[in-house]
Amino acid sequence: MNSLRQLLEQDSNHNLLDLLSSFCQCAIAIDENCNVLWISDAYRVLIDIPQDKDPIGKPVEELLPTTQMPRVVKSGKPIFIDLMQIKNQWCVVTRLPVRNNEQEIIGAVGFVFYDDLDSLQPLFDKFARLRRQFEDEKIIRPSRYALDDMIGNSAPTQLLRRQALRAAHLDTTLLLLGETGTGKELLAQGIHEASHRRCGPFVGINMGALPESLAEAELFGTAPGAYTGADRKGRTGKVQLANGGTLFLDEIAEMPLGMQAKLLRVLQEREVEALGSNRLEKVDVRIIAATAKDLRTQVEKGEFREDLYYRLNVLPINLPPLRQRLEDIPALAEGMLSQIQTQSQLPELPLSSEAMKWLQNYSWPGNIRELRNRLERGCVMAEGKAIEAADLGSADELPQQRAPKKLSSDLKSNRRESERTLIEQAIQSCNGNKTEAAKLLGISRASLYQRLK
Ligand SMILES: Nc1ncnc2c1ncn2[C@@H]1O[C@H](COP(=O)(O)OP(=O)(O)OP(=O)(O)O)[C@@H](O)[C@H]1O
Ligand SMILES: [Mg+2]
Repeated sequence: MNSLRQLLEQDSNHNLLDLLSSFCQCAIAIDENCNVLWISDAYRVLIDIPQDKDPIGKPVEELLPTTQMPRVVKSGKPIFIDLMQIKNQWCVVTRLPVRNNEQEIIGAVGFVFYDDLDSLQPLFDKFARLRRQFEDEKIIRPSRYALDDMIGNSAPTQLLRRQALRAAHLDTTLLLLGETGTGKELLAQGIHEASHRRCGPFVGINMGALPESLAEAELFGTAPGAYTGADRKGRTGKVQLANGGTLFLDEIAEMPLGMQAKLLRVLQEREVEALGSNRLEKVDVRIIAATAKDLRTQVEKGEFREDLYYRLNVLPINLPPLRQRLEDIPALAEGMLSQIQTQSQLPELPLSSEAMKWLQNYSWPGNIRELRNRLERGCVMAEGKAIEAADLGSADELPQQRAPKKLSSDLKSNRRESERTLIEQAIQSCNGNKTEAAKLLGISRASLYQRLK
């Protein structure tokens, strides 16, 4: 006997198949390529295979998307008792590999039990509870940050804090603009925590991390019955999950054009339509979008809808890069270092003064996230009584940093540059109103005009 197919063909009286069926409510056999060889009538009924459809020869995953039978064929190891949800019903399944005389794997058989499972009910309940908990935790991330977690007292950081507080009380759509690692997610969560929505959910979704084919279902949900397989029951979209709270759309520039129209409707009408549902649902969410890209340019290139851009750009908040808030570095480094050391239970080493100087001279393309990474690296690399500059950066980064700089003029131009950015940001976030902007900056109107000149 070389294959399970031959074995079944030789069994012309179906003794073997009858035997398999008698063990349980449903049974199925697959070959070494995981294609279906045989399926009991009861199983056909259970998974709704239409009369006119022949499942024989089809990959088993096509019939049972969550099946573990291929694993059994691959590993040659049985799975004796497992729980599997088939059409909203919990079933106990057992899967066995089938070997020939040479002990090679020639397929697998699966048995399903679903009647008289009362004695297993506590197990099902426990499983369902754990699963629900897991799903909730994965989907609804409670916000981990508050605005108080924002470290730094430089002028740009103070302005950012004031803007964030104002935005928290306004309940309008927000657009967070800033390079990678500048703290956009921290700010979004902080604003949620400071807003009246703090008791509602904070739901985040990263448009850049999702393949386009999944993004729409993930964001807007799917109606029950609209899809086969895992999505058959329907799925709640992130928009609906965020109801009563805040929806954080990270890397919004990556949102496919087709989806942008749907998001526009959420923003304009506060309505959402799950895929395949033909039904509009009311939602009450505040949207905070974030991007490191220049959305204006995307609009000009036709990659981002102009109407959506204006809807999102109601209240833009710029997060300054770390090189424009170098003053924050000592406080940031100290705060993050103690966090890292507590979390990782590493020895509490201080930064040497050399190392601190290095941090303040580095250009920080990766901003605060990079600062954190370098400090983590420093904690691990340090071998002496303190973290040295060499523990923070690789050898080839160091000499360049040590090259003498025209420090005084640098300082001056740096200050002018930061001041200009600050003023521009303040005016922008006050929609051009200079009196408001002066208030936000904590200076008089006259002083603002003077600086503008
Ligand atoms: N002002 C701050 N004080 C303390 N920690 C901060 C501050 N800003 C950012 N961080 C920390 O820096 C890291 C990066 O922040 P975050 O993830 O919010 O940045 P991001 O702008 O969303 O980055 P990306 O664009 O790469 O997603 C996080 O560990 C965050 O806790
Ligand atoms: Mg982020």
